[in-house]
Amino acid sequence: MDIIYQRRSIRKYSDQGVEKEKIKEIIRAGMAAPSSENEQPWVFMVIDDKKILNEIPEVIWCAPVLKKSPCAILVCADKTYAKDPEDFWWVQDCAAATQNMLLEIEHQGLGGVWIGVHPDKEFVDGIKHLLDLPEQVVPFAIISLGYKGKVKEPTDRYLEDRVFYNKWKDLYE
Ligand SMILES: Cc1cc2nc3c(=O)[nH]c(=O)nc-3n(C[C@H](O)[C@H](O)[C@H](O)COP(=O)(O)O)c2cc1C
Repeated sequence: MDIIYQRRSIRKYSDQGVEKEKIKEIIRAGMAAPSSENEQPWVFMVIDDKKILNEIPEVIWCAPVLKKSPCAILVCADKTYAKDPEDFWWVQDCAAATQNMLLEIEHQGLGGVWIGVHPDKEFVDGIKHLLDLPEQVVPFAIISLGYKGKVKEPTDRYLEDRVFYNKWKDLYE
């Protein structure tokens, strides 16, 4: 629970680069996520080329953080690994992997932030074009990461009135 509460979106980093072993552990955490029928339809692209990190915010307007990031990991679905390439279970699979990675980033003493790509068509098409991704690959999210340049307070967002047992309760009655 400590890691869950301490994980916050970090958009400011120190200049220190992220060690390859740490990146591998973060991706290992992503690959440990649950997936529908255990299909594990994910593929990860590590991006530490400054030119690419600077170009991504040109196609994803809400990703200016990448201009100051030492590193990012693009989480993609590759439909080659799905039994039915037309279904959408991969969305939940990739989301589970992304959250696992954010928790491992915190565990490794780093900070990161989830940048949504799917389902914004312009973002998806822009990233596919920029990174020359093949047809069957869908970019799902980008995780910006690095050593923290800012520490945030942990959060506990528990709301008692959002929890029901067995029967729906009208929140607005
Ligand atoms: C699906 C999704 C998409 C997000 N996209 C962005 C984004 O494009 N840019 C950004 O700076 N933060 C993005 N965030 C981070 C949220 O703004 C952040 O998680 C939220 O404000 C809660 O703050 P916390 O992560 O510090 O708990 C995204 C988070 C999720 C789950």
